[in-house]
Amino acid sequence: MSNTPTYEEAIKGFDWAQVEEELGYRKGDPINIGWYCTDRICEMGLGDKPALIWEGFKGDQRTYTFDEMRILTDTFAAWLRDLGVEPGERVCLFMDRLPELYFGVLAVLKMGCIAQPLFSAFGEDSLWTRLDNAGTSVVITQRKHVKKVRKIVDRLPGLKHVIVVDADGKPLKEREVALALHDLPPAEDFVVHPTTAESPSILHYTSGTTGQPKGAQHVHYSLISQYITAKWVLDLRPDDVYWCNADPGWVTGTSYGIIGPWANGITQAVLDSGFNADKWYDFIARNRITVWYSAPTAIRLLMKEGAELVAKHDLSALRHLCSVGEPLNAEAVIWSEEAFGKPFHDTFWQTETGCMVITNFPGMQVKPGSMGRPFPGITAAVLDPVEFTPVEKQGQVGVIALRPDWPSLIRTYWNNEEGFKGKFKNGWFVCGDQATIDADGYFWFVGRDDDVINTGGHLVGPFEIESALLGHPAVAESAAVAKPDPVNMEVVKAFVSLKPGFEPSADLDLEIMNFIRKKLSPLAMPQEIEFVEDLPKTRSGKIIRRVLRAKEFGEPVGDISTIMND
Ligand code: PRX
Repeated sequence: MSNTPTYEEAIKGFDWAQVEEELGYRKGDPINIGWYCTDRICEMGLGDKPALIWEGFKGDQRTYTFDEMRILTDTFAAWLRDLGVEPGERVCLFMDRLPELYFGVLAVLKMGCIAQPLFSAFGEDSLWTRLDNAGTSVVITQRKHVKKVRKIVDRLPGLKHVIVVDADGKPLKEREVALALHDLPPAEDFVVHPTTAESPSILHYTSGTTGQPKGAQHVHYSLISQYITAKWVLDLRPDDVYWCNADPGWVTGTSYGIIGPWANGITQAVLDSGFNADKWYDFIARNRITVWYSAPTAIRLLMKEGAELVAKHDLSALRHLCSVGEPLNAEAVIWSEEAFGKPFHDTFWQTETGCMVITNFPGMQVKPGSMGRPFPGITAAVLDPVEFTPVEKQGQVGVIALRPDWPSLIRTYWNNEEGFKGKFKNGWFVCGDQATIDADGYFWFVGRDDDVINTGGHLVGPFEIESALLGHPAVAESAAVAKPDPVNMEVVKAFVSLKPGFEPSADLDLEIMNFIRKKLSPLAMPQEIEFVEDLPKTRSGKIIRRVLRAKEFGEPVGDISTIMND
C-alpha cells in the first residue's frame, strides 16, 4: 500500500507543520538528524529491521539492523568525543562508500559536529581548497586515500586528526589515528547532542561560475523536507529495499542516500562499486530492490548496454524509479518504460535546496522530458532574468526561482554570506537554471544560466579548473567550458594559451589532462584541450567563456560587442 497521496490531495492545505507533527517534532525542541535516523526508528519498534545492506566492490556483504546502526553510530560518536572533538567542529568524511562513511556521517551529526563529506576521487588541490575553506579539524578516511591528505596536511594548521578506518596495524604518521569501529566496545553512555532546528548539520561544497567552490551549509531542520519528499516522491513503503546509487560526497547521497530513507525507517542497499550494467542489475535482482534513485548519465550508460541485458535478470521487485542531476531526456524515459516496464520519474533540485523541489509525483502523468511540478509547500516560478518577476507568457524561457520558505534551503555559504545573499532577487531564491512552464504547470529544463559544467550529473566550476591549470608550468591562460557529450551530457574542454618556450603537442596535451585529473578529479579533467593564441576577453580583460561554449554547442555567440580582442 502506498503512503503517498495523489498530487492534488498532497498540495491541498499542505503545511510543513503537519510533517513536524508526523515526526513528533515541536518548535524549539532539540532535533538531531542522527537520532531521527537511528534511535527514533528503534523506539518505533523497528530495531531488528535491516537498515543497511552493504556490498563491497569485491562482493563482500554485510547487513546492519537499525539497532546495530544506532549502537555503532553512538560508539563512533563517543570515540570522537573522547578524542577531544567538540560540537560545531567540521569533520570531513573522505572515503569510498564503506559502512564507516554512512555511520560516520550520522555519528558526526549525533555529536553536534558538522559533517563535510567529500568525494573520494578528489585530488589534493580539490581536497585542500575545501578543507581550508571550512577550517576542518578532523578528516576521516581510509588507507587508500590517506596519501592525498598527507600531501596537504602541512598546509592545514587547523587539522587536528586524520582518522584511518582500515589501518589494520599499518604504521601511521603524525596526527593520524587508527579507528577499528567494529572492534570497539559498544558505547552505552552516549547522549546525542541536543542540536536544534538551526544547528548546522552538513556542509557540501558546490561549484559556481566564479570563485572556488562554496560550502552549502545545511541545518538539522532540513530533515522535515528530506523526510517527506523521500516518503512521497520516492513512494517509500515499509517493506521497500531502496537503492540510491549516488555517493554521499554529493547532496543526493546524503539527502536521499542517508537522511530521507533512514528517517522513514527504510532498508537501504549500498553498492560500493562503480558503474557496471551487469553488476548493477545483479545487485538489484539479488537484493530484491524495489525503489531506485539514479541519474541520467547512468541511465544512458544502461541504454547503451541494451534492454536484452535487463531481460537476463529478475528485476520483478522494482516498483518505482526516479532520477536527478541532469536533464532526463525523453528517450531515456521511453526506454525505461520498455526495458523496466516503468518510467524514470525526473526530479529537479540542487545542493542548495537540500530536497527535491520540482518532481514527477507518483501517480502524476509523466510527460517524458519534463521535470514535473513543484513539490507541495514549494512555490516555484520561472522569472524574467532582468526584472525577476514571473514571465508573462506561458512557455516563455526564464530562470527557475523558489520562494525561500521551505525547511531545507541552505542557511548560508560557509564564510561567504555575500555569495549567499547574491542568490536572492526580488524575494526569490534564484537557482541558476533556465526553464519554461507549460499549460499544466509542468517545468521543462532549458539549460544552465551560468558557466558551470554539468558532467555526468556533477557540477564542475570553471574557475577551479582554470586556477589549477595555472599551476602547470606551460600554461599562460586558460578557459574551461562545457562541451556536449552523448553520455555525460557535458564534459570539460579547456582552451589554453601557452607560455613562451612551450609548443602545443600531443604529449603536452596528455600531460595537462593528467595534471588536472590528479590535482582535482577525473570529473574535472578536460577531455579535450585546444591550444590557442588568445582567449576572447571583455575590455576589462575578463575571459568570456560563453563565446567558446557557444561554439562547442554550435549555438549563436550572441552579443560580442564588448569583446576586446576578437
Ligand atoms: O543545473 C541543474 C542540474 O543540477 C544542478 C544542481 O546540481 P547539484 O547542486 O550538484 O545537485 C545535484 C543533485 C540534486 C541544477 O542546478 N539538475 C539537477 N536536477 C536536474 C538538473 N537539470 C535538469 N533536470 C534535472 N532533473
